[in-house]
Amino acid sequence: MAHQSTLIADDIDAYLKAHEVKGLLRFLTCGSVDDGKSTLIGRLLYDSKMIFEDQLAALEADSRRVGTQGGEIDFALLVDGLAAEREQGITIDVAYRFFSTDKRKFIVADTPGHEQYTRNMVTGASTADAAIILIDARKGVLTQTRRHSYLVNLLGIRHVVLAINKMDLVDWSQARFDEIVADYRIFADQIGLEAFTAIPMSALRGDNITEPSPRARWYQGPPLLRWLEEAPLDAEAVEAPFRMPVQWVNRPNLDFRGFSGFIAAGAVHPGDKVKVMPSGRETSVARIVTKDGDLGRAVAGQSITLTLTDEVDASRGDVIAAAGQPPGVADQFECTLVWFDDEAMMPGRPYLLKLGARTVSAQVNEPKYKINVNTLEHLAATRLELNEIGVCNLQLDAAIAFDPYVEGKDLGGFILIDRITNRTVGAGMLHFALRRSQNIHWQALDLDGAARAAQKGQTARVVWLTGLSGAGKSTIANLLEKRLHTAGRHTYLLDGDNVRHGLNKDLGFTEEDRVENIRRVAEVAKLMVDAGLIVLVSFISPFRAERRMARELMAQGQFIEVFIDTPLAEAERRDVKGLYKKARAGQLKNFTGVDSPYEPPEHPEIRIDTTSLTAEAAAERIFARLIEEDRPG
Ligand code: ADX
Repeated sequence: MAHQSTLIADDIDAYLKAHEVKGLLRFLTCGSVDDGKSTLIGRLLYDSKMIFEDQLAALEADSRRVGTQGGEIDFALLVDGLAAEREQGITIDVAYRFFSTDKRKFIVADTPGHEQYTRNMVTGASTADAAIILIDARKGVLTQTRRHSYLVNLLGIRHVVLAINKMDLVDWSQARFDEIVADYRIFADQIGLEAFTAIPMSALRGDNITEPSPRARWYQGPPLLRWLEEAPLDAEAVEAPFRMPVQWVNRPNLDFRGFSGFIAAGAVHPGDKVKVMPSGRETSVARIVTKDGDLGRAVAGQSITLTLTDEVDASRGDVIAAAGQPPGVADQFECTLVWFDDEAMMPGRPYLLKLGARTVSAQVNEPKYKINVNTLEHLAATRLELNEIGVCNLQLDAAIAFDPYVEGKDLGGFILIDRITNRTVGAGMLHFALRRSQNIHWQALDLDGAARAAQKGQTARVVWLTGLSGAGKSTIANLLEKRLHTAGRHTYLLDGDNVRHGLNKDLGFTEEDRVENIRRVAEVAKLMVDAGLIVLVSFISPFRAERRMARELMAQGQFIEVFIDTPLAEAERRDVKGLYKKARAGQLKNFTGVDSPYEPPEHPEIRIDTTSLTAEAAAERIFARLIEEDRPG
């Protein structure tokens, strides 16, 4: 390495020791290709001497070959490491880079600025303490500057530098600098960004990066690196109430039970009173155990194992918290949600929500509004598309311990994961718990579904028929219901067309309406099963995610998925209602199989091939299966 410190050569142990105790600042750089972002990062790495000799040689050679600086060092090449990136001249993913000075260690998240990469910016910003927002002095505050600032503020980054770059190209004009700062201040006020530090600089020439520039004597503030060395560290904010999400329960033998995790906020000492959330059980800290021995105090950012004075139950995902200031507990929230996935967020669709060390199933309601991040306008929305940001209510299937995001990022920030693809599809920030969730309790009843079904002498179940329009679902369901009725069973048939005349009258055939259609009918089916009935559901139900949601609402074995498998060509040939004809003629939009997808079941309990089986035979086959399973023993 290019002599980062003479200590490296003279006393490597002392160097490493000094390094270990230095604070770490994570920061984010936002800007676009032209603002000089890569050049700035390259300059920081270069000036802090964090470049290996061989990298430096390669950089010099590359600068001569493909550089944009007439043979001089092109710092951007150092950062835009990917070959593909160099050729396209854009930065495409979040890259983390490390450098250090005598005072501090730094991790820079380098995120691309263009709109389609909001996702990357949110990813980069989620752990950042500070942000550098780059502005080209010639261009001033642009739409993208607003977008970056809005996101930085939304993600709760309180330390912001407005890096007014390329000052050499405006002759170091103080008037120009002041004008940009004044413009930005108006915008900052609008979004509630309380404070920022504006620094005039030239990343390319190295002005106001490590040393105050002689070209801007009118500027009294710090150069960038000094600001970075002095910005307060969030991780050191130990006055916040203690929070430790339990990552695992450490139980090597019967005599030891410790709860291991990473301290997200605050400090802890042996003897401190703590609560285990969400149960709320109170106890005290007995010991703070680490691999280097017991501690008398541990603070945010440390990984520890706690033992408690009482035998309390805590498991992975619970939070051990200061007893006097515990986090809230709720299962319904308002939140801001940023959507990351190509597939839009569907209200009502179940996703997995991960917050702290806890993972639960969650549904998002229709957005209250989405935000145009360029203009800050609130717009009506029924879904959120890739890179869109909205405010939504959220419902979880279990109560969790949380803090509002503005009070604690670790227990207030969450991600959503698609249950089928396992992709991270969104990230969000909790605002507050909905009051209704605090006031509505589950009423325990003395009679249950099993008792009601027993009185009818049957096993309550849902027979869920899915398939294309015109596949034969309703015909088969109708025959099956008659067959069950004759055999003395108590039934009800929920048919798509019929339910859409009443309960679901307000829904059409867009993706989000179909999701809601199935959510409602699944909830109704669940009530009817609880009433002890055999419920036949005959809905196209085209999406796997919702059929899975319906399955998970019921008890094990209660959900029987029947795939009425009729090839599209055959359903279209029959075209009983004449709808395929209309759809092909363009008179009917979003028709399943034509311009709206159908996802066939992968593992249905029963598959009916209607090209080889009559409707009567199909009904008989399902009936036989139900009766078979009904027989005691
Ligand atoms: S689902 O997709 O939301 O499950 P559902 O079973 O309730 O659909 O309703 C399907 C019925 O609505 C079809 O049998 C058909 O008669 C009628 N229909 C009207 N428009 C459409 C459409 N665009 N796509 C599918 N079915 C439609």
